[in-house]
Amino acid sequence: MADRAGDGTAPVVLSMGGSVLITGDEDERFLPDLAALLRKVVHDFPLVVTAGGGRVARDYIRLGRALSLTETELDELGIDVSRLNARLLAAVIGPPCPPHPPTSLAEAVREAHRSRIVVLGGTEPGHTTDGVAGMLAERLRAQRLVNATRVPGLFERDPRKDPTARRVDRLDYAGFRKMVDASVAGTAGQQFVFDRLGLESLARAKIPLRIVQGRDLPNLEHALRGEEFVGTEIR
Ligand code: UTP
Repeated sequence: MADRAGDGTAPVVLSMGGSVLITGDEDERFLPDLAALLRKVVHDFPLVVTAGGGRVARDYIRLGRALSLTETELDELGIDVSRLNARLLAAVIGPPCPPHPPTSLAEAVREAHRSRIVVLGGTEPGHTTDGVAGMLAERLRAQRLVNATRVPGLFERDPRKDPTARRVDRLDYAGFRKMVDASVAGTAGQQFVFDRLGLESLARAKIPLRIVQGRDLPNLEHALRGEEFVGTEIR
């Protein structure tokens, strides 16, 4: 089952946070550069990319919550925004990336067997696109999952609130689980460096997770390729 779209190399999964993908700052320069990097690395291994919903998803969820929408309805708003971002990224990458992002795990697995690169957003309520990435990594027996996010790794405390917080460079899944448990509320629009469900998939499948600052493309490339990189590795 590790064979993927061609030469038998197991895929790498990239979870691209929405708040890194579309920031409102230099996106028209960043997206083509990211697409060029992804087109380059797929010569060496297949890629499955999930796109998050970022600030727009959070704005919709905040507004929907103020309007008393249910948790499921809020999740669905987040899913739709992440799919919009996935569609934009897929279009910028161009062929061989399928232009219409899969909408379920099963469909994403099927596409990953057909295409060297697949981009998708959310699938169903109850998790984030990091969760989708973790579940897909388990199903596809990925080499690793790279989580490209706003901060350059996992910090002992939120570095935006506490600038003295130090980065944790290496950690095992038991230690990571404790950190996630201590900080995730489990409601729509939840904000932590990685999704609880995704973490359980990765821990079960013994797939390493690398957390990097997603706008630093040379470092992102090192992380994707399994080379030395700046950030956090959990295994
Ligand atoms: P994101 O994946 O964008 O979450 O999904 P996030 O962790 O806030 O993201 P980034 O990394 O900054 O982009 C946004 C919301 O959409 C719903 C959840 O409510 C999630 O918090 N969602 C997303 C789902 O319910 N299911 C999915 O598969 C994906």
